[in-house]
Order: sequence, then structure tokens, then C-alpha cells
Amino acid sequence: MTSRLNPVSGHPAETPEYPMTRAAGCPFDPPPALRAKQEEGPLTKVRLWDGSTPWLVTRYAEQRALLADPRVSADISRPGYPSSAPIGGSSTISFILMDDPEHARLRRMVTAPFTIKRVEALRPAVQKIVDDLIDDMLAGPKPVDLVEAFALPVPSLVICELLGVPYTDHDFFQDNSKTIIKRDAAPEQRSAALGNLAGYLDNLLGEKLTDPGDDMLSRLAERIKAGELSRQEAAQMGVLLLIAGHETTANMIALGTLALLEHPEQLALLRDTDDGKVVVSAVEELLRYLHITHNGRRRVALEDIEIAGQLIRAGDGLIMANDIGNRDPAAFPDPDRLDIRRDARHHVAFGFGVHQCLGQPLARLELQIVYSTLYRRLPTLRLATDLEQIPFKHDGSVYGVYELPVTW
Ligand code: HEM
Repeated sequence: MTSRLNPVSGHPAETPEYPMTRAAGCPFDPPPALRAKQEEGPLTKVRLWDGSTPWLVTRYAEQRALLADPRVSADISRPGYPSSAPIGGSSTISFILMDDPEHARLRRMVTAPFTIKRVEALRPAVQKIVDDLIDDMLAGPKPVDLVEAFALPVPSLVICELLGVPYTDHDFFQDNSKTIIKRDAAPEQRSAALGNLAGYLDNLLGEKLTDPGDDMLSRLAERIKAGELSRQEAAQMGVLLLIAGHETTANMIALGTLALLEHPEQLALLRDTDDGKVVVSAVEELLRYLHITHNGRRRVALEDIEIAGQLIRAGDGLIMANDIGNRDPAAFPDPDRLDIRRDARHHVAFGFGVHQCLGQPLARLELQIVYSTLYRRLPTLRLATDLEQIPFKHDGSVYGVYELPVTW
């Protein structure tokens, strides 16, 4: 019997589609079809929206090996790159989609504010942001949408402060960020949103060039003056930091809270502990368990690579599905259980290799402060609706909830 062929790729039409859909059931678990693929083996072919058939890497060990392999490129403009959507005119979001040495040159210019020591110095300021927002919630009407009132403002206020972006513009940059990370946004919509944000940051850089402050954009403006960086490169870096700095953390706050409300014994452990180490490990475990960047780390092979008995050819697309990697039983025993006391530090929620998340110390700080404050100050926090009514972000490159109505 001959199998039906896909007209575009020439691969069997039964090659599964990626991304796979989450079935009804546990909203925190990766799609069951992804689990089935992981059980079958570490690598498999999948079919994307454009008919292309990159490799899907499902196991933790192979994902880390490939993400650390210099023969693998993150450059979206290379043929074979498994793009999650049609690429618009100006889709490049700075160094996250570049290879070394360009990637390293640009990344180095913004590493200083994200070192653990510098981030730790922000603890009192972040604690104040969190406390003030909770004060506002307590003083206002109930129920409240936790996303709008708390989960989005915390990281937005922090990244605005760090970059030197006026928080009063948050509606503008949040609307544009949402379009950029929406899976099914039309290429021209995404391109327009990127253009809007780049234009906005270019304007701000212009102001910082003449009237610098004590913030990251002003440091970038200095580099423009010194001829180390073009204004366009600086604006694109600003876009990357602005988007990465608030969308991801906001989703971890809201989805993390929902996961804890659905696991009351874990919530009680976290709320009632005086041990800072439990808070630290809860953050790592929630990062692992929820894995919000559920669209896979996308790469393309520069050379032939042999891994797990399989030959990946130069030019083949690769998708490291880190969400299922974080549920690999070989790396995390009983992986589908949320257990805030387990050691989950080796998770891949921040990626791995040279592109590993630059903002992870900041994300960790924000989540540690949020998780150790919110449930203590609102000990009777609960959902103000049924779980079935919560709108999940199935259509975004970052998983989470659009709204989380809560009361206390
Ligand atoms: C819980 C929150 C966060 C999660 C889950 C997260 C996740 C990730 C992941 C998975 C990557 C790797 C992308 C890849 O390999 O293709 C990444 C890269 C990056 N993240 Fe985050 N991130 C978070 C928060 C932040 C924050 C607060 C910032 C700060 C502005 C930030 C800035 C970046 C940057 C600049 C990169 C690109 C690094 C590079 O290409 O060298 N992230 N992040």
C-alpha cells in the first residue's frame, strides 16, 4: 500500500502537525500527542503550517545537546528555519534570532543589568511594586481580573523602570506585543506591530541621546554615540527586552497562581513556609511544570549532525519542544506531578546554550517576590469562576491565561 503524500513537502500526509493541540483535560499538561511522540523516541518529523517537515526533538538530553551545539543556528533568515508563522518584512527581533559572533556582540551590551548582583539590588523596589498593587486590589471592588490588576503590571512596571520607558505608554506596547506573539497574526499585522514598537523605541532613544537618564536605553544611547551600535540595532534590542521582559513573567504569575489554586496542598506549603529555599524551589518547579514558551526553540542545522542514531542533514529545521522536555521522566521522576519541594533547577524553561534567557535572574526575582507575597496577603484567594470558563492562550507563542477572575 502506498501512503498518501503531502503535496508541498512530499512527506507522508500522516506526519503529525505541529504545534499539537492540548486536549480537554489538565490545562497545565503538554498535548497528549506530544507525550506519545516522546515515548516513541527522541526525534520525529512534524508538519508545519507551510507544509515543511522539520525534526521535532522531544527528549530532554537531545534537546540540551542540540541547543548547545554550534552546528545549530537560530538565524530565522536561513533556508530551512522552521518558522512558526509567515515571516513579515521586518520580523527580526534582535539577537535572539542571530548567531555568534553578532549575537554575542549585541548580547554583551545588555548583560550588566541582568547579573545576579545587580538584579538582587532591585529586590526592595520590586517588593514595593508588588505590595502597592496588592494594596490597590484590597482597596478596590471584588472580584478582580488578576491578569489586568496584578500579573501584567508587575513585570511591566519593572521592565519600564529598567529600560527607562514611561509606564504611561503601557497600553500601546502591550497591544503591540500581543500581536507579535500571537501565533495566528497575519504577517503584515506582526510586521506593523514590530514597526510600531521599533519606531517608538527609536523616538525614546532620540530623547535619551540628548537627555540621558539612569536606565538601559540611555546606556544604549551612549553606545550609539560611541559608534559601537547603530540606532536601528539599539531600537531592536529595546523591542526584544520590552517584549521578553513583561509578557513571559506576566503569564508565569497568572498561570502559576491558577496552578497553585488547583493544587491547594502545594499552595498551602508555599504560603505557610518561613523557609526562603521553599520559595526558590517553588519558582523553579512552576517554571518546569508550566513551561509557558510552549512553541519550541526553533533552529536550523548548519552541518550534518548525528544524534540518537539519527542523521540530521544540513539545512534541516529543528524544533526543541522544551515543554515536553521538562516532563521527560528521564530528567524529572514522576514528571506530571507538581511538587514544589523537588529539585527542578535543571529545567529548560529558560532554554539552554548561548541563547539561554538573559533575563532569568530578573524573572526569578519577580516570581519569588510575587509567590511569597500574594498568597500570604490574600490567604483566602480563590477563583471567582469555574476552571472551564478560564480563557487559555492556545493561540500565542507564550502560554497562559487571558483573564483570571479571582476573589478572596
Ligand atoms: C518567566 C519568565 C521568562 C521565561 C519563561 C523566559 C524564557 C526564555 C527562553 C525559553 C529563551 C530562549 C529562547 C531561545 O533559545 O530561542 C529566552 C531568551 C531571552 N529572554 Fe527570557 N524568559 C523570561 C523572562 C525574561 C525577562 C524578564 C527578560 C528581560 C528583559 C528576558 C529576556 C530574554 C532575552 C533578551 C532573551 C534572548 C537571549 C539570547 O538570544 O541570547 N526574558 N527567554
